[in-house]
Amino acid sequence: MPSYLITGVSKGIGDPQQWEFFRQIALNPSNTVICLVRNKAETEKKVAEEFPTGNHLHIIQGDITDYASLQNAVTQTIEITGGGLDYLIANAGVVPHFDAYDPIEVLGQNPALLEDECLNLFKVNAIGNIHLFNLFVPLIQRGTAKKVFAISSGQASLDMIPRLKIEVAPLYSMSKAALNVAVAKFSAQYAKEGILFMSICPGMVDTGHFLDATPEQMKGFGAMLSSFAEYTPIFKGPATTTAAVQDVLAVIEKASIEKGDGGSFVSHYGNQQWL
Ligand SMILES: NC(=O)c1ccc[n+]([C@@H]2O[C@H](COP(=O)([O-])OP(=O)(O)OC[C@H]3O[C@@H](n4cnc5c(N)ncnc54)[C@H](OP(=O)(O)O)[C@@H]3O)[C@@H](O)[C@H]2O)c1
Repeated sequence: MPSYLITGVSKGIGDPQQWEFFRQIALNPSNTVICLVRNKAETEKKVAEEFPTGNHLHIIQGDITDYASLQNAVTQTIEITGGGLDYLIANAGVVPHFDAYDPIEVLGQNPALLEDECLNLFKVNAIGNIHLFNLFVPLIQRGTAKKVFAISSGQASLDMIPRLKIEVAPLYSMSKAALNVAVAKFSAQYAKEGILFMSICPGMVDTGHFLDATPEQMKGFGAMLSSFAEYTPIFKGPATTTAAVQDVLAVIEKASIEKGDGGSFVSHYGNQQWL
């Protein structure tokens, strides 16, 4: 009975990718699915409506920037699983609007705000996940699958940025690059114990971000989308959450240390094709 812990599973039943992650894993009643969310009551209500018979589903409270809440989450997970954990999927993250439409020089015109936004992004996307991994590794060591995944972004790819000249989202990209390095370092330490650590980009996914963009803001964003279309004719715009999560779960199932995946940073295709 494989056990999964997934973070960032709080969003609505419509679009959000986090809910889709949960739904697709929870479809198999032989999985034990533990969701770490900030708003437990609200998520429990949604689970009760969507999965009324799901006694293999558990919602626990946790904020990845709150170390004590993560320690509590570990205790609760041990109570649910009996001690181990097979899969950890670190999906929670901040996708900011602050830097979504502007290059780094424009953001630098407000240095204090740039610094605040950057620190918050690093706190959640990089440091929060480092705490999460450190605290849950003992459970993964006792699990069978021994797989840990960070949901990263192709925006952090040092191949993509210069090739497509992507000016926007610099701070978000930096925070995901830091996450990728942290994942590689965890892999360097734990691969010898058979624990797979890996970063996966889900592709560009329609989760309702940026719907409030002004026409001016959409200019920079539109330029990025045009460059995506030049990168590959396959790209027809953001994927549905269903398709993206199916792709990511396929990568998760196939990946192994034996195949050389430890510490790697891959796309939803399991390679360096980002779109
Ligand atoms: N959408 C895309 O095109 C895309 C592309 C590449 C990578 N990604 C990555 O995929 C993941 C999901 O993206 P999304 O577009 O679905 O984002 P989203 O709709 O903004 O959802 C973010 C999730 O993370 C949770 N979260 C944020 N801060 C948290 C914290 N401190 N502790 C615990 N949970 C926290 C949120 O919970 P609350 O409800 O409590 O805020 C929410 O469930 C992110 O890591 C993102 O970087 C997305």
